[in-house]
Amino acid sequence: MLTTLDRSRPAPLAYSPAIAAETAPLYARVARVVPQIEWPVHAPYIAEINRLKREMNAVILAHNYQTPEIFNCVADVVGDSLTLAREGAKTTAGTIVMAGVHFMAETAKILSPEKTVLIPDARAGCSLAESITAADIRLLRQRYPGVPIVAYVNTSADVKAEVDICCTSANAVEIVESLGVPEVICLPDEYLAQYVATKTKVKIITWHGHCEVHERFTGEEIRRLREGQDNLIVLAHPECPQDVLAEADYVGSTAGMSDYVGIHHPKRVVLITECSMSDNVAVQYPEVEFLRPCNLCPHMKRITLPKILAALQTRTTEVLVDPDIALRARRSVERMLAVGRR
Ligand code: 13P
Ligand code: SF4
Repeated sequence: MLTTLDRSRPAPLAYSPAIAAETAPLYARVARVVPQIEWPVHAPYIAEINRLKREMNAVILAHNYQTPEIFNCVADVVGDSLTLAREGAKTTAGTIVMAGVHFMAETAKILSPEKTVLIPDARAGCSLAESITAADIRLLRQRYPGVPIVAYVNTSADVKAEVDICCTSANAVEIVESLGVPEVICLPDEYLAQYVATKTKVKIITWHGHCEVHERFTGEEIRRLREGQDNLIVLAHPECPQDVLAEADYVGSTAGMSDYVGIHHPKRVVLITECSMSDNVAVQYPEVEFLRPCNLCPHMKRITLPKILAALQTRTTEVLVDPDIALRARRSVERMLAVGRR
C-alpha cells in the first residue's frame, strides 16, 4: 500500500541518544503517567523548548490541566488560575508563554503590558468566557443599580474592564465578603456562584454560564463510584453542579485539591475535574491511588509541545489587549490580588 507524506506539517524532531540522556531525569519524574513508548516523541521537543526559552529569557506558565509532559517537563510556573495570575505579574522574563487558555494569557498581558505574552494556540477558549459579554454587564448594571459585580477570571478582558472586581475559584467567597455589602452579582459561572452562596450570608445573584467540562459530572456518577469503596475521598471543583458538590468530601480550586492530597495523603482519591489534573498530582504523590473518571477540556488540550515550540520560534500568537480595556481590566484583577495580600 502506498502512503502519502503530509508535507503541510513540519517533520517531527528526531530522538537521539544525546536527547535520551539529557531528558532522562525528566522522564524519571513522569514515568508513572507517561508511557515509555511516548517518550521519544516528547523528548526532542522538551529539550528544544528548554534550550530556546533560556536563550530567549522566556517563561512558560502552565495550568494544572496541562498534559504531564508540559506541566512537569517544560513549565517554569504551574498552578491554578490565581497562582498563574500572581506569578505572571512577578516574573522578570521578557516573554511569557501561556500553556493554558486564552483568558489566562489575557490576564497575564493585562498585568504585564510591557511583556510579550504568547499563546501556542489562539483557539484555546473557554465555555465560561464565551458565556458573557461586556454588553451583558452593562445591561446588568441597569437592572441591578448599585449592586457590585464580581467576575470569575474565566472572562474576557472586555468583561473584566466592566466589573468591580475579579475572583478565582480559590478566593471567590473571600472576594464576595471583602465587598462588605448585602448583595453581589457573581458571574458568569452559575455553579460557582451557587457554591459561594452556600458559604456566605451575602445574597448572590447568578448568571447562567457553565464550564462544559465540569457540568457533565453528576451526583449519581459519584454515588456509583463510592459503591464498595468505603475509603474513597472525593475532591470536586466548584464549577461542578450542586448535586456533585453535595457528594464531595472537599470542594476547592485545582490548587486546593492538590494541597488536600499533599496534606491528608488519602489512600484512594478521585478528583472530579479535568483529566490531566490527576496525572499531575499523581506525579507528586506516588503513594496515593487515583481513580480516574474525568472529562477532557478540549481547549486546554489544544496546547501541545510542538505548538509551544512553534510559539517560541515564531513569537506567535501574541496576545494583545486594547490599552484602555487593559487599564480598566487591570483594576479589577489588581483589586482581587490586593484582597489576598491584606
Ligand atoms: P482553577 O485552576 O483556578 O481552579 O480553575 C479551573 C479552571 O477551570 C480553569 O480553567
Ligand atoms: Fe473553561 Fe472549563 Fe476548560 Fe476551564 S475546564 S478552560 S472553565 S471550559
